[in-house]
Amino acid sequence: MEYLWSSITGSVAHRSGFTVLLVLLLSCCTFTSTEAYDALDPTGNITIKWDIMSWTPDGYVAVVTMYNFQQYRHIQTPGWTLGWTWAKKEVIWSMMGGQTTEQGDCSKYKGSTPHCCKKDPTVVDLLPGTPYNQQIANCCKGGVLNSWAQDPATAVASFQVSVGAAGTTNKTVKLPRNFTLKAPGPGYTCGPAKIVRPTKFITNDKRRTTQALMTWNVTCTYSQFLAQKTPTCCVSLSSFYNDTIVSCPTCACGCQNNKTDTGNCVHPDSAHLASVVSSPGKAVNTPLVQCTSHMCPIRVHWHVKLNYKEYWRVKVTITNFNYRMNYTQWNLVVQHPNFDNLTQLFSFNYKSINPYEGLNDTGMLYGVKFYNDFLSQAGPYGNVQSELLFRKDQSTFTYDKGWAFPRRIYFNGDNCVMPPPDSYPWLPNASSKLVFSLLTTLIASFASLVILLS
Ligand SMILES: *[C@@H]1O[C@H](CO)[C@@H](O)[C@H](O)[C@H]1NC(C)=O
Ligand SMILES: *[C@@H]1O[C@H](CO)[C@@H](O)[C@H](O)[C@H]1NC(C)=O
Ligand SMILES: *[C@@H]1O[C@H](CO)[C@@H](O)[C@H](O)[C@H]1NC(C)=O
Ligand SMILES: *[C@@H]1O[C@H](CO)[C@@H](O)[C@H](O)[C@H]1NC(C)=O
Ligand SMILES: *[C@@H]1O[C@H](CO)[C@@H](O)[C@H](O)[C@H]1NC(C)=O
Ligand SMILES: *[C@@H]1O[C@H](CO)[C@@H](O)[C@H](O)[C@H]1NC(C)=O
Ligand SMILES: *[C@@H]1O[C@H](CO)[C@@H](O)[C@H](O)[C@H]1NC(C)=O
Ligand SMILES: *[C@@H]1O[C@H](CO)[C@@H](O)[C@H](O)[C@H]1NC(C)=O
Ligand SMILES: *[C@@H]1O[C@H](CO)[C@@H](O)[C@H](O)[C@H]1NC(C)=O
Repeated sequence: MEYLWSSITGSVAHRSGFTVLLVLLLSCCTFTSTEAYDALDPTGNITIKWDIMSWTPDGYVAVVTMYNFQQYRHIQTPGWTLGWTWAKKEVIWSMMGGQTTEQGDCSKYKGSTPHCCKKDPTVVDLLPGTPYNQQIANCCKGGVLNSWAQDPATAVASFQVSVGAAGTTNKTVKLPRNFTLKAPGPGYTCGPAKIVRPTKFITNDKRRTTQALMTWNVTCTYSQFLAQKTPTCCVSLSSFYNDTIVSCPTCACGCQNNKTDTGNCVHPDSAHLASVVSSPGKAVNTPLVQCTSHMCPIRVHWHVKLNYKEYWRVKVTITNFNYRMNYTQWNLVVQHPNFDNLTQLFSFNYKSINPYEGLNDTGMLYGVKFYNDFLSQAGPYGNVQSELLFRKDQSTFTYDKGWAFPRRIYFNGDNCVMPPPDSYPWLPNASSKLVFSLLTTLIASFASLVILLS
């Protein structure tokens, strides 16, 4: 909830004289919890399911499956890690499809040695290309998990654990506790394991159904607040009716260090670019961005391109400024009231995301497989673009008051920093009413959210 209203106040009311008023207006209704909440994906979660497939002389064999039910937030390389704390003195005899990062102290075991004796094991996925005899279904993707709206088939991950020194019946077994899911950084909070109705499995020939001996579920939710990430993307705007290009806010993702040669960004014409980019030893996941005023790894540009009698056309360009990152399976979530009448989309895939009945203003855009689902590292190929054709609803359509610009944009699930609304390109001669009308829109949309959430 905090995240929701801070993003509303942050993006829309930023620097407007009404911020104080809004804070007063909103604070009466804010919840104090840090509960993860994303207004565009209110039920988004990753569910981890443990199915006990058999009891063994000293424990059980379980298949653990993670489902990424989030609409658009995926987990990219270097992938997820999953940890928990055993309730008693359990050990992991063996694993398939995954492995623990540390074996721990197994010195009290003579003869065959367990895979892991730690009280709090941490599991990682195996890499693609793992030998067949160590695999199970849905494993071995290096921890990469797609999102549910983009591709449910690759939004699932599994591994198998053989647990010893554990209970051997559904009465004596104790559930593991304190689940921690990392992606690989912070952001996810997991609830306790809950025993649920045992999973039913249907055989390949669909002629027989079997069921797990016991099943428990754990639900994890994401919060950008907990992830404490600095913004990773920003939005710039332009239009056919005004020459102004509104660039990303200065320092949207960080400020340039003045000693840039040794600093946190590189100039594209810098002579030592190649050596900096390929310098070994640098953590692959620390971004190395091109020097810009916004310092964001990703910029999304929204250009209101053409006007027709019954339609209007927007060009969207996503530019990668990170020399150390190729984004595979990137996605963009855009909120704009005209998504209820998106007529045509060129060279991107589109999925409508409608968490609230009756509201159809949000869509997810993502690349076409083998064509532009790969957003290359910074450089000449580091961009993807598309055009959107919307049908005008004559009763609401206007170029006035910044209406044609998006309300919110997420890149890979991260909220992008928008320019302050009073800087949006104006229609010639439209002026002073702008801030007032934005405030009206804001209050109206806030009111509708309150209604929806209550
Ligand atoms: C997790 O997500 C699924 C799919 O959206 C949803 O059905 C389920 O209720 C969610 N679980 C929780 C605890 O929110
Ligand atoms: C445990 O198994 C018995 C049958 O063996 C079943 O009746 C009972 O519901 C199970 N309890 C749980 C918690 O799964
Ligand atoms: C749960 O895990 C966290 C992080 O791994 C740890 O700090 C905390 O002490 C654990 N709590 C329990 C009850 O084991
Ligand atoms: C447990 O998780 C599975 C897989 O996500 C889901 O199908 C099932 O409905 C969940 N059960 C409960 C009670 O949430
Ligand atoms: C960088 O240098 C310029 C002038 O050369 C100065 O105005 C600016 O404040 C400096 N920025 C930082 C982050 O030190
Ligand atoms: C990005 O992909 C290109 C082409 O596949 C490759 O040459 C380059 O090394 C990759 N960059 C990173 C940072 O992985
Ligand atoms: C939302 O708009 C899209 C695009 O026009 C349309 O395909 C979809 O059916 C609409 N969904 C609802 C629930 O109105
Ligand atoms: C799309 O626009 C047409 C023409 O304005 C309108 O009749 C129709 O109701 C709109 N569709 C939606 C889903 O709003
Ligand atoms: C274009 O928009 C800017 C605000 O971004 C405004 O200052 C300027 O006057 C507008 N230009 C015209 C020709 O209206």
